[in-house]
Formats: sequence, structure tokens, C-alpha cells
Amino acid sequence: MTRRTALIGGGAALLGLGGAAWSVQRQMGSMAEYEAAAAARRVAAVPPEVRDLIRMATLAPNGHNTQAWRFRATPGQIAILPDFTRRTPVVDSDDHHIFVSLGCAAETLAIAAEASGRAGQIGFDPAGDGTVLFDYTTGGTGEQALSGAIPRRQSTRADYDGSAVSAADLKLLVAAAANPDVDLALVTERAQMNRIGDLVIAGNATQIGDPAFVAELKHWLRFSPNTALRTGDGLFSACSGSPALPDWAGPLLFDMVYTVKAETKKYAGQIASSSGLAVFAGAKADPAHWVQVGRSCQRFALQATALGLTCSFLNQPVEVAGLRGDLANLIGLPGRRPDIVLRFGRGAALPFSARRPVEAVML
Ligand SMILES: Cc1cc2nc3c(=O)[nH]c(=O)nc-3n(C[C@H](O)[C@H](O)[C@H](O)COP(=O)(O)O)c2cc1C
Repeated sequence: MTRRTALIGGGAALLGLGGAAWSVQRQMGSMAEYEAAAAARRVAAVPPEVRDLIRMATLAPNGHNTQAWRFRATPGQIAILPDFTRRTPVVDSDDHHIFVSLGCAAETLAIAAEASGRAGQIGFDPAGDGTVLFDYTTGGTGEQALSGAIPRRQSTRADYDGSAVSAADLKLLVAAAANPDVDLALVTERAQMNRIGDLVIAGNATQIGDPAFVAELKHWLRFSPNTALRTGDGLFSACSGSPALPDWAGPLLFDMVYTVKAETKKYAGQIASSSGLAVFAGAKADPAHWVQVGRSCQRFALQATALGLTCSFLNQPVEVAGLRGDLANLIGLPGRRPDIVLRFGRGAALPFSARRPVEAVML
């Protein structure tokens, strides 16, 4: 061996040793990184009380119970972002329902926060996809009436008892829903309710006749308690007053009973047994106003719950675009886009719908 080859051989051995050490180090990881990560886990990134507020917000109503929202908590602010991976493009082609649902969640969050001594303001940042912002400080009235209704509110899709709601309670509902960006038409006159009901029934028949609508709906249906709990989302049959079924049997039975005739009878009964209808229309048709509609509608629903009333949505005439004009004319707002139709009255509670764990919706 010459001196030169010995040097080269020694260098290669050294390089080899260095390379091996680097690879072992890479496999092991560094102590500095370990200690920084371990320390970070000992500080609550989101204080438990803020996590609880977000959990309350997720109890808000939302289209098809897709829960198309994500929450980002930073000190003094909770941002609510749309989750477009959970879109329902057939029934909600322009994401109207997603932004209404974000508004429902934001209002719920604000009410829960106020009750726990964190007064705040809801804003809308149109940048990017559009984000709802809840900025809060300490303070707040501790007002409990509406916050107590948050876990008790549900969409009760059953016949009601047909009894009238007193003028005083109707006044409270209107006052709770008051929002300068939203018009509310409260309809308790039977003939007018039936005219709106006819649009609900017409919209429902259009939707049932659309295979894409039915396929999308079926994707979000849950038939067994196990699946409803495992996914934590979607429309569980028992929450609409239908029987819980094995997962294999549910879709088969659904195909047999989901007919225009049966659904028309169901909705006619629901409308006839309701005390009234509330139709919400934003001043403009854009995401910022849809959020305001959600806020107003959720305040209405929480006030109704606090008064011992029940509500459920009959949105067919706002989902089927061709019926929006007729509905707008019926409520005296020609040219506007109606956003939500809610029925209210008195009825027995049904099982509550599921939600995903709060960790699943936090960024
Ligand atoms: C924007 C929006 C649209 C909705 N549309 C309907 C509807 O047309 N029919 C219906 O039965 N429920 C409708 N819902 C109610 C949701 O399905 C319901 O909120 C969801 O399944 C969660 O159940 P919960 O309200 O009982 O918590 C709607 C809710 C929102 C926020």
C-alpha cells in the first residue's frame, strides 16, 4: 500500500464513521428538540375553558350535520373556518348552508362565552375562503337564559301539537332574532303557512326526483347507533323519529319509504301541526350576510328552546333555486333571496344528534 492509498483509505474510514454517527443521530433525534417538545406539551395550548366553549359551539345546527367547520383558538380570539372537505355540493351548490352554519356556531360561541364571563364581538374576514372571528375579553353579563338552551336545542322533526304561541312569546322570539342585516317574516296565519307549505312540498318533490340529491343525502344518513357514534356526524334516523336499523338494512328500507307520496304526507302533517313559520332573509346574498342569517336564526331557536318550544328546518324552497322567488314574494320581500325556513311549535323531544369530538374540529 502506498502512503497515498493509505491516506485515502483512512479518510474513507473516517467519512464512513462520520456518516454512521450522523445516521444514528438522525434515528435517535436530538435532546434539544425533545426537551422543547416535551415542555410545549406541559403548557395547555388551548385552556380547557376555551375548549369547552368550542364544544358548545359545535352543538349549533348545521346543514346535513356535516359540521363543515374548524376552530382555531389564539389568546383572545377564536376563528371559525369553513371546512370545504365537508361540502354538500348538490343541496348547497354555493356553500350558502356552510356559512349559515358558521353563523349559528359563532352565535352559540358568543352566547356561551358571555355566560362564562368572556364578552366578545363576532366579525367576518372575507379574505381567502372567508372566516368568522370571535374576539373576546374578560367581562360579560353572565346571562344564562339563552346559554342554558344550547345543549337542549335540537331540530325536532316530528309532528307538533298545533297549539298557538302567545303574542308575548312571539315578541320575545322576534326580539331575540333581531339583526340589522336580516329580515324575519313570522307567519302564524294558517292560509299563509299553507302557501309556504306548498312550496316546501314542491321543493321536496323536486329533490326526491334528483338522483344526485338522493345519493348525497344517503351518504350523510346514519342508521345504527354504532355508526352514528363512530362518525359523530350525519343524519341519524332516530333523530328524525325513524327507527334505528342495522347498517345493511337502513339503505334498503330508505329506498322503499323515501317516496314523494310518503314525504308529502309527512311534511303536510308537520306544517299543519306547527304553531308558525319563521323565514329569514339576509339583506344581501353573500357569505358575510349568510353568517348574519345563521346568527339570527340560532338566537331564534335558542329563545324558542328557552320558552319550551321546538323548531325544525324546512329549507326546500330555499334549496331549490327556482322556488326562491315565489317564497320571497309570499313573505313580502320580492327580489330578495330567502335563506332559512324554520317551523316552530310544541312537540316531544327526539334523540339528540351526534357531534364529532372537539379535538377533531380544532386546528
Ligand atoms: C343551513 C341549515 C340548513 C338546514 N336544512 C335543513 C333541512 O332542510 N331540513 C332539515 O330537516 N334540517 C335541516 N337543517 C338542520 C340540520 O340537519 C341539523 O341542524 C343537524 O342535523 C344537527 O341536528 P340538530 O339541529 O338537532 O343539532 C339545516 C340546518 C342548517 C344550519
